[in-house]
Amino acid sequence: MKKFFSVEDVTNVYDLIKEAIFLKKNPYKYKHIGKNKTIGLVFFNPSLRTRISCQKAAFHLGCNTWILNIHKDSWKIEINDGSVMKMTQEHLKEAISVMSIYCDILAVRTFPNLSDRDYDYKEVIFNKILNYSRVPVVNMESATLHPLQSLADVMTIAEFTSFFKKRCKVVLSWAPHIKPLPHSVANSFTQWISKIDKIDFIIACPEKYNLDEKFSNRVFTTHNQDVAFMNADFIYAKNWSSYLDYGKIVCKNYEWMITVNKMKLTNHAKFMHCLPVRRNIVVEDAVLDSKNSIVLQQAENRIFASQIIFLKILQSL
Ligand code: CP
Repeated sequence: MKKFFSVEDVTNVYDLIKEAIFLKKNPYKYKHIGKNKTIGLVFFNPSLRTRISCQKAAFHLGCNTWILNIHKDSWKIEINDGSVMKMTQEHLKEAISVMSIYCDILAVRTFPNLSDRDYDYKEVIFNKILNYSRVPVVNMESATLHPLQSLADVMTIAEFTSFFKKRCKVVLSWAPHIKPLPHSVANSFTQWISKIDKIDFIIACPEKYNLDEKFSNRVFTTHNQDVAFMNADFIYAKNWSSYLDYGKIVCKNYEWMITVNKMKLTNHAKFMHCLPVRRNIVVEDAVLDSKNSIVLQQAENRIFASQIIFLKILQSL
């Protein structure tokens, strides 16, 4: 593997999930492959899970890591080409080129601006990073995608279905939030889950929250959350801002919060969320704290999702 930007960089999703599950059982199997190798972790935005799970994954592979929180720990970075840099000290071009000299794999997180849809959906910043880096780049969440999260999510579903043995129904449900959030988790999850057979996948969201058709064109989307929840086996809750009215909050209806009563419509569904999650806004305490909540398993699987991607790249160096 030469880079990991999206599911399209994966040859076979089933094999990748199997290999990630194998690593979970044998985390130190490849502990020598990363000897004398370094993974650079660059964050333009905050993180808890991604940062620590990637460090842990690198540790399992015997890799060294360094971390840089851009703007907080570094010079202020200029993104635009041709700028007269009165307010910024270093251009992305030099910053990425230099950081890529200091590592063998460069993993980067950079969120959308949520104001210019074309700019975000063309992945302008991430494409520049891919262009400037001299080493393979891993997407730790870009403007429109969060593939390491999605790999962990489908891995979690695989574990709870004896590797997709029997047909199951998965619902990605929009849930309320007080801030406009990126679409990356919803887009990516839709992309990855659509690669798996034996899954009936539905998106439930308010009007004006349909995802970009590039990701959702073959997925049934309903604006009726109750209908979507009927007999579901997995409820994946996530807020995202409007795609149509780009980056805006156009629904403030807290009826969309995931509650115990709504979960009663399902087939004793497992509750999923990528975290961090705002309690009693996105989901009721009683759902998040129930035995059917599998959010911690998802978070644990972030380690092995990262580990299998780092391993594939290290094997191809
Ligand atoms: N789910 C996720 O990416 O968490 P962090 O933002 O804490 O990394």
